[in-house]
Amino acid sequence: MHRILVTGATGQIGSELVPALRARYGAANVVAAGHKKTPMPELREAGPYATLDILERGALAALVELERIDTIYHLAALLSAKAETDPQLAWEINMGGLVNVLEVARLGNCAVFHPSSIGVFGPSTPPDRPPQVTIQRPNTMYGVTKVSGELLCDYYHRRYGLDTRGIRFPGLISHKTAPGGGTTDYAVEIFSAAIKYKQYTCFLRPGTSLDMMYMPDAIRAAMEIMEAKPEKLHHRNAYNLTAMSFAPEKLAAEIARHIPDFIMLYQPDPIRQAIADSWPNSLDDSAARADWGWQPRYTLAEMTREMLAALSGSGASHEP
Ligand code: SER
Repeated sequence: MHRILVTGATGQIGSELVPALRARYGAANVVAAGHKKTPMPELREAGPYATLDILERGALAALVELERIDTIYHLAALLSAKAETDPQLAWEINMGGLVNVLEVARLGNCAVFHPSSIGVFGPSTPPDRPPQVTIQRPNTMYGVTKVSGELLCDYYHRRYGLDTRGIRFPGLISHKTAPGGGTTDYAVEIFSAAIKYKQYTCFLRPGTSLDMMYMPDAIRAAMEIMEAKPEKLHHRNAYNLTAMSFAPEKLAAEIARHIPDFIMLYQPDPIRQAIADSWPNSLDDSAARADWGWQPRYTLAEMTREMLAALSGSGASHEP
């Protein structure tokens, strides 16, 4: 029987993972938790919702016990660019939150999914298709917390036998909830700006190639790795994962196939450009493919078509 808790449920991943988990395991078995007292109605009305500060370990422990939770998807965290503006807060939330989740999981014997990121890599990582095991010396606070998180999750697995699993997510593109504070956010903002203004000013330079993925693939990946047979997992925290790699001008050209008068302008933001420059151009995710059968379904062309169709129907949610 699955009894699942999702922290950070109102965020970009959580707002789509919760409905997917509820569809699979039953709405009553998936507790969405976030710091918002009034989350989007779908989250609150379609199943249990709890207001939770991830830094309150006692409240987390009580919720896990009350709801008889056996699996925690721990998504609450600050993204890369936001973390650079307040590194101390990022350490507190990203590491403090994870320590609380791991301790509560250890005492309650819960499995833990912890998302890692392309942010675990840094300037000394091979820039093109770094393999699963490679140099991880990030120079951002986000990366520091994600590498530390990977090591801590592996430690809890080895020391306490905790079933911890993770994925190094690339930039995630979705139309339901804005990411907020990430370096790859341009690849989300661009769609609604293209529809509304036929113009977008990109905060990364042309030629800045990064790994990306459409949200339905990311949601499926998170559920698939948690369902994989443990003996298949030669790695735990965390697997390289990608679906596509592109630079801003390539995404702009793909959008222009649908909106011919779309114009892309560039005004690089030094903080986010420096972060992007420190990350690889594209990852080698063959370990995830071999160990648990990872296969992306969405190409750049398919994702672009779906994003534009979805946002044209609902109107723009981002400013340019
Ligand atoms: N999308 C994230 C960010 O830009 C990377 O994990 O921070």
